[in-house]
Amino acid sequence: MIEMSETQRSLCVIGLGYIGLPTAVVFAQNGWRVLGVDVSDRTIDYVSRGELPFVEEGLEGALKSVVDSGMLTVQKDTPKADVYIVSVPTPFKDTETHAPDLSYIEAATRNIIPQLTGDELLVLESTSPPGATKFMADLVLSERPDLSLDGSEGRPIVHFSHAPERVLPGRIMIELTENDRIVGGLTEEATTRTRDVYASFCRGAILTTDATTAELAKLTENSFRDVNIAFANELSVICDELGVDVWELISLANRHPRVNILQPGPGVGGHCIAVDPWFIVSSDPKNSRLIRSAREINDAKPDFVLDKVYAALDQTDNKNVAVLGLAFKADIDDLRESPAVEITKRLAASEKVSSVLAVEPNISELPKSLNSVEKVSLAEQAEALEQSEIVLLLVDHKQFKALTLADLEGKTFINTRGSASLF
Ligand SMILES: NC(=O)c1ccc[n+]([C@@H]2O[C@H](COP(=O)([O-])OP(=O)(O)OC[C@H]3O[C@@H](n4cnc5c(N)ncnc54)[C@H](O)[C@@H]3O)[C@@H](O)[C@H]2O)c1
Repeated sequence: MIEMSETQRSLCVIGLGYIGLPTAVVFAQNGWRVLGVDVSDRTIDYVSRGELPFVEEGLEGALKSVVDSGMLTVQKDTPKADVYIVSVPTPFKDTETHAPDLSYIEAATRNIIPQLTGDELLVLESTSPPGATKFMADLVLSERPDLSLDGSEGRPIVHFSHAPERVLPGRIMIELTENDRIVGGLTEEATTRTRDVYASFCRGAILTTDATTAELAKLTENSFRDVNIAFANELSVICDELGVDVWELISLANRHPRVNILQPGPGVGGHCIAVDPWFIVSSDPKNSRLIRSAREINDAKPDFVLDKVYAALDQTDNKNVAVLGLAFKADIDDLRESPAVEITKRLAASEKVSSVLAVEPNISELPKSLNSVEKVSLAEQAEALEQSEIVLLLVDHKQFKALTLADLEGKTFINTRGSASLF
């Protein structure tokens, strides 16, 4: 174990998931003594052995090295530290209101509160609705009136800021250090301190603003992508009616120098694009009509895909369906909010279907939501193709890109990700 020198400052990362763990590793690689905290026993067990609890390219070796050197240690209780980075989930509460659920931020903050003595920096990294950083500060100051934001009445200062993350799963270890990054504090001092902390590893520009603008900036980025994907998904349905190949159409339109349409798919999934736009909608429902419509268009795309499969089932006696891919995007194991999981579940619930053979090369067991569904099994690709006449491609994992026309001979192939990328 490395002894902490008097000048070496400690940094505590709370929430060691897809974002928190790589962040903890990168800080540890860059001279910080990092204390990782998570509520999950599984995560603590894995990370303390230097093992990755999920798939992320390039992270495993780096994790092992900082754990072995003692620069990253993990525990369940929140320790005293100079800097806290909070990277816990921020889902929405329910699918009716889509109101943000701040309970994880609240729980993490409550655990920090007893450790504060003044001069600490609390950085909220979780993607958050406007006002969440202030929510954190209000909670701290209501529980600890002996502290302050500005040193008023001689009370020790605690600094708060937001530093949203915009990395792409699968490329996190590259993008974490190379992307430009936005940081926004509740005070100018908090912003400056946060910029200095991230400058220890961030090679991109660090753009400073206030906390609310930083919160809204992250939501804006993902809403922009959601609206653009909704446009592509709407086009895909129109093209289906008109007998036009939407992928060819989009590639032709994108040759215009100022057009850049994203790709359609079976819906939009993941923890970010399928969730974050709702935080804008719920903060100003009256004025976010386009953002809401985009969410609704993307959420309706699984219905369109299911109708295609049901129509194909009517044409064959073999009622098995091979589903290729469950993750929310290519070459990762993250199944959160995945339209592929939703489609699989709904297929299994249909009387038209005998069994669903799900092929997902990045997982070794089905997620809870599918585990108890009788008609669904996790299958090898060869077995799924052998037993099914209908093959539904939902995720363009690299393994599926190796499929050939010969593999699919005699089958009805429903490709929600575009034929051009496969053949
Ligand atoms: N995954 C992404 O690609 C991505 C990208 C940008 C931003 N974000 C945002 O980052 C945040 C974290 O996302 P993630 O993908 O890392 O989530 P995750 O679910 O992978 O990780 C969250 C971790 O927090 C832990 N946790 C929950 N409550 C806790 C508590 N009170 N104390 C300590 N640990 C706790 C969980 O056990 C889990 O390990 C979210 O707000 C998300 O929207 C995610």
